[in-house]
Amino acid sequence: MAAGQRGDGVCMDSVRSVPMPNRARPLARPFRRAGRGRCAHAEDREPTRLAEREAHLWYVSPEQISDLDLLRACQEVLAPEEEQRRQQFFFPRDRHQHLVTRALVRTTLSRYAPVDPGAWRFRTNRSGRPEIVRTAGVPPLRFNVSHAPGLVALGVALETDIGVDVENTERRGQTREVAERFFSTAEAEALGELPPEEQRARFFDLWTLKESYVKARGMGLSIPLEQFSFHLEPGQPIRISFDSRLEDDPDAWQFAQYAPTSSHRIAVAIRRGKGPDYRIATLPTVPRTDSGFAGR
Ligand SMILES: CC(C)(COP(=O)(O)OP(=O)(O)OC[C@H]1O[C@@H](n2cnc3c(N)ncnc32)[C@H](O)[C@@H]1OP(=O)(O)O)[C@@H](O)C(=O)NCCC(=O)NCCS
Repeated sequence: MAAGQRGDGVCMDSVRSVPMPNRARPLARPFRRAGRGRCAHAEDREPTRLAEREAHLWYVSPEQISDLDLLRACQEVLAPEEEQRRQQFFFPRDRHQHLVTRALVRTTLSRYAPVDPGAWRFRTNRSGRPEIVRTAGVPPLRFNVSHAPGLVALGVALETDIGVDVENTERRGQTREVAERFFSTAEAEALGELPPEEQRARFFDLWTLKESYVKARGMGLSIPLEQFSFHLEPGQPIRISFDSRLEDDPDAWQFAQYAPTSSHRIAVAIRRGKGPDYRIATLPTVPRTDSGFAGR
């Protein structure tokens, strides 16, 4: 399917300035957009499965979720501490985004395992990365979530490290100054050599990729951002390189980038290891509070 084309529930445009080695492809059994409150299609109650070397990228626009029944249902799946945190946000839009994020994580994970959305338990590593507390009968799911104004994205894979970053490219800021301060010298120089009208898009390409990598490692900003570089060449897979201070193997990683809307970029990092590339399926969605698998 050509990039940007829509079909079988999968809808993603490629980032124009970056080739997409992992072009969005439909799942064998696509999910439809949910209607009022819940997904009405009985056939969609099949559990979602991750094939070997497959990852799923779910994304949702919080603004599209205004149905009161759905919002109430989302709220019911939150853990008490998540609800408490929700209430601490000052702005309603932040409360809403938090609700959608938590509900997306919980209800999406319940597509893969016989666990009620409200029953998932998480622990965080010392850098704050949430992971599932494993229980018997649950596949070894790994996930990473990212939110920016207008979009929440969730990557799910089996066992391997996955990192996701979404940015709103309309956010204000001095891109060159930030790049010079935080990016590697090679990245900042490559950015500066581009025609001015291409620099902003490239900046967000690099930013999201860098964040996806540190998030996949689960170490946040304790990984110095200037110690690794992304190389974006037309027609070539996205490459990473590390300087001698950062011990990691560039060949162990796979990256992909998407532009689901004209003002959002998403980057995904997957620890591929030695095997072939992962297939990454992209899925626009809404939190499905009837939780297909768990509700059966
Ligand atoms: C926390 C951090 C991992 C990502 O932050 P971010 O880009 O602001 O936020 P995102 O929306 O992409 O991700 C936040 C989510 O990542 C998850 N997360 C938190 N710590 C994490 C970690 N160490 N590793 C992976 N994921 C983490 C959480 O689920 C969090 O969402 P939640 O708090 O709602 O549960 C960290 O990299 C950070 O603080 N970045 C600051 C941004 C910056 O300066 N970037 C410069 C880019 S060049």
